[in-house]
Amino acid sequence: MPTIAVATIVGLRTAITAARDVGRTVALVPTMGALHAGHLALIERAKEAADLVVVSIFVNPLQFGANEDLDLYPRTLSADLEQLSAAGVPFAFTPSVDEMYPHGATQTRVTAGQIGSLYEGRSRAGHFDGVLTVVSKLLNIVRPDVVLFGQKDAQQVFLVRRMVADLDEPVRVETVPTVREPDGLALSSRNRFLDAKQRRAALGLSGALEAAESSADRGIDAVLAAAQSVLSGDDQIELDYLKVVDPATFLPVDDGYRGKAVILIAARVGTTRLIDNATIFLQGTQGH
Ligand code: PAJ
Repeated sequence: MPTIAVATIVGLRTAITAARDVGRTVALVPTMGALHAGHLALIERAKEAADLVVVSIFVNPLQFGANEDLDLYPRTLSADLEQLSAAGVPFAFTPSVDEMYPHGATQTRVTAGQIGSLYEGRSRAGHFDGVLTVVSKLLNIVRPDVVLFGQKDAQQVFLVRRMVADLDEPVRVETVPTVREPDGLALSSRNRFLDAKQRRAALGLSGALEAAESSADRGIDAVLAAAQSVLSGDDQIELDYLKVVDPATFLPVDDGYRGKAVILIAARVGTTRLIDNATIFLQGTQGH
């Protein structure tokens, strides 16, 4: 069955109400399109989690800064719909900017708070307010039982979970591990902008995470040094940040921290901004 692209809020609500009336549960997978195997992993998990999967495809202007790649962001709707058909997704929600923001940029926004201004939010002011505002709108439009996000965007997942808890949004949030190329590169819609040399340099991000993981038994300093040495090994990598955070608070861990931590990397390779992360288990410095 070909996927039906529904471009209006009214049209989508009608389709979903019909499904709900016959007792079907609904999963939402929010995306900005340019679909790849990472998105498809979310869809596969969504199919297990609910009866009806809705994938939204909307390049959300609110989450792009003035100097960012909104106009360049890949838009590949017909190829996306083919992938969704092959994946057995009945409905794609494909609204225009006018449909989502009929009065221009919304006056009312969800603010992502303190954590929203760190790491990605520090480099991309207002980004997470834009993400949370559109996710909140999508949740209100679709009213899914479950919404799915990729661990690839670890800070986004943290902030969405926090929003859902803080605002008592009636939805369950599920996450899916990062899907990677066989050589380790995390799949991203932006990878298509990398030429062959940049593609090789981009492997420094996943390489740094691997080096960090294998140093985790020697404490935070060793982890940061191991990651840093991989990242500085290629002069095409322009590091934005390298941080180790506590998954419970998303604040940087201090020296004595032990246990589960998330290592975050953002870097520019050429003009392409890439992010990646991994969960590590920090142990103390040997001998302490
Ligand atoms: P987008 O970048 O299209 O990503 C959509 C979803 O796919 C996100 O949950 C993201 O974490 C997940 N994803 C991307 N690459 C992945 C990979 N390699 N492995 C697993 N999951 C991956 O994130 C957004 O869009 C937007 O901010 C959005 C949430 C749609 C709001 O506009």
